[in-house]
Amino acid sequence: MITIAYWTQSGNTKLMADKIAEGVKAAGKDARVVEISEISASELENENVFALGCPAMGAEELDADMDTFVAEVEKFAAGKTIGLFGSYGWGDGEWMREWEKRMIAAGATVLNDEGLICQEAPDADAEAACKSMGEALAGV
Ligand SMILES: Cc1cc2nc3c(=O)[nH]c(=O)nc-3n(C[C@H](O)[C@H](O)[C@H](O)COP(=O)(O)O)c2cc1C
Repeated sequence: MITIAYWTQSGNTKLMADKIAEGVKAAGKDARVVEISEISASELENENVFALGCPAMGAEELDADMDTFVAEVEKFAAGKTIGLFGSYGWGDGEWMREWEKRMIAAGATVLNDEGLICQEAPDADAEAACKSMGEALAGV
């Protein structure tokens, strides 16, 4: 079972999460898509592979609730493979670069060496990239 935990304001990151789950399932594994308010970070502690999604908020920041969630994940992230993803609007992806650095500093491997970002709602190309991320998660 691969958990895809996300936060969203207007649904774009949820659309990405659903496509990632499709990829996981296409590759033959189970996936669960959950909003971070529905789980506690400690549920991921025994999982070696999972995905976290959050759009660019604030000024190139994670949403505050996701920031708190990620701070919990950092405590046990060493050795895990984490797929990072999220939607953005007008920036250049700085929030994701900072998030990647944070997870790597905690000892995690960031899947594909970088987070998957998509501008606003995913188009067909972004949907395909999400599906590929799901397949890659399933193959770790
Ligand atoms: C309060 C707020 C802050 C935002 N800050 C940024 C930002 O710093 N950089 C950026 O590229 N987009 C920013 N955006 C745009 C969102 O990241 C973008 O609309 C994204 O698609 C929202 O994803 P969601 O539908 O998953 O909530 C911001 C949007 C809002 C509402």
